[in-house]
Amino acid sequence: MADPVSREAEALAALQWLIDAGADEAVGETALDRTRLPEPQRPAEAAPKPAPAAGAPAPQGLREAAAAAPRARRPASLTSASETQADAQRLAQAASSVEDIRKTLEAFDGCPLKATATNLCLYDGNPEAKVMIIGEAPGGQEDRQGKPFVGPAGQLLDRMLTAIALDRSQVYITNLLFWRPPGNRNPTPAEIAVCLPFLERQVELLAPKLLLLTGGMSAKTLLNRNQGILKLRGRWDDYRHPRLSDPIPALPTLHPAYLLRQPAQKREAWRDLLAFREAMNREGLSPNA
Ligand code: URA
Repeated sequence: MADPVSREAEALAALQWLIDAGADEAVGETALDRTRLPEPQRPAEAAPKPAPAAGAPAPQGLREAAAAAPRARRPASLTSASETQADAQRLAQAASSVEDIRKTLEAFDGCPLKATATNLCLYDGNPEAKVMIIGEAPGGQEDRQGKPFVGPAGQLLDRMLTAIALDRSQVYITNLLFWRPPGNRNPTPAEIAVCLPFLERQVELLAPKLLLLTGGMSAKTLLNRNQGILKLRGRWDDYRHPRLSDPIPALPTLHPAYLLRQPAQKREAWRDLLAFREAMNREGLSPNA
């Protein structure tokens, strides 16, 4: 039998293995088996059969029952990427408010990040704001609280906003992704693509006058650029929404998480913030206007 010292070493090695795999926090007492497939839904259970219309022949047999039931949700792994993408588009378009988008995303299983995240993390701030800040993806604290930018990067973002006389009641803050990538790894193009219709719908509903894009991932994705953030930052660009007629002026800037690691770059971010403030003033978006 292994002695207690080697058992402890084995346990530590197993823990390290989990951390290396991205499981960097314990979120519950009971382990979840995420590999278990959902129970198959029997069509008759999925929804009560609608009463036949007067004069219509009564539905017969399994085929009719299946046709009458709403499309049972298949696990994402059995749905093709293009079907998932089409679902995301359709569902996002059907939402008529950001709270509607939240409800839709809570029921949506098309993004695999949902399976490893603790909470949906959709937005913070004011859904009526005309200034929108778009970050990258929730981190650990955002995942626990279900709100974007509440961890250390969020606290720095708050200080950056205060420096240009703004606070969260005057802006709408969201991310490119609505669930935390495990271990804060970079999201895959497929994860970004499936979240994008829901981000685009938020932009469409708010119709912001200005966008602040924090970090390379949101700047590159939304502006359709290949350069890194150090090239893009500080240069106004146009965000072209697929369904809004006018482009929205967008300013890419350094991500607050990057600024925490590279404080010397705060000078550049400060320049961007001043430019953003000036644009707000020009647009008549001053808090006291
Ligand atoms: N970084 C982001 O881009 N978004 C968050 O919500 C938190 C950290």
